[in-house]
Amino acid sequence: MKAKEIVTLQRSLLVDTEKLLNKQVEMEGKSSAYYLSMASWCHMMGYENAAKYLYTHADEERMHMMKIFRYINEAGGHAMQPEITDIRHNFNSLREVFELILEHEIKVTKAINNIVDHAFSVKDFATFSFMQWYVTEQREEETMSRRALELFDIIGEDGVGLWTIDQELGKLHDASVQGEA
Ligand SMILES: [Fe+2]
Ligand SMILES: [Fe+2]
Repeated sequence: MKAKEIVTLQRSLLVDTEKLLNKQVEMEGKSSAYYLSMASWCHMMGYENAAKYLYTHADEERMHMMKIFRYINEAGGHAMQPEITDIRHNFNSLREVFELILEHEIKVTKAINNIVDHAFSVKDFATFSFMQWYVTEQREEETMSRRALELFDIIGEDGVGLWTIDQELGKLHDASVQGEA
């Protein structure tokens, strides 16, 4: 009997599902590193509230990574500490940072949906159910990222605009920490 067959006899988590989940571990880990790098740039540039928002976001992405990491091992698989490379450190503007966040979150939503679709198609309802938390979380994160980006159009970036946007990002951060956003 092949090693792969022995493994699958002792658990219901399929090898393909495990691979997809480990890919998601990598994606959440990269999100955390990406947002930490953005937080650092904002902090260095004096955008204190944007930095606060992004430091928190980086911590949340690490938590997302760990939740899947533990799930894989608890389901009888092997969670892999991902290689995190190619993290961008410099950005052209505060607006660009928030454009990149929304773009990235949409990419993550697609990856989550792909896992949910896969889990359903192979009748892995444990993974399907586990991933529902991520479906809800992505919807909330996309909304928050879109709101953050909208501030740039609503307030405008001229004069004290950027300062005001930074203040509003602080409020958005506080609301989300209190579970209101
Ligand atoms: Fe995430
Ligand atoms: Fe996220």
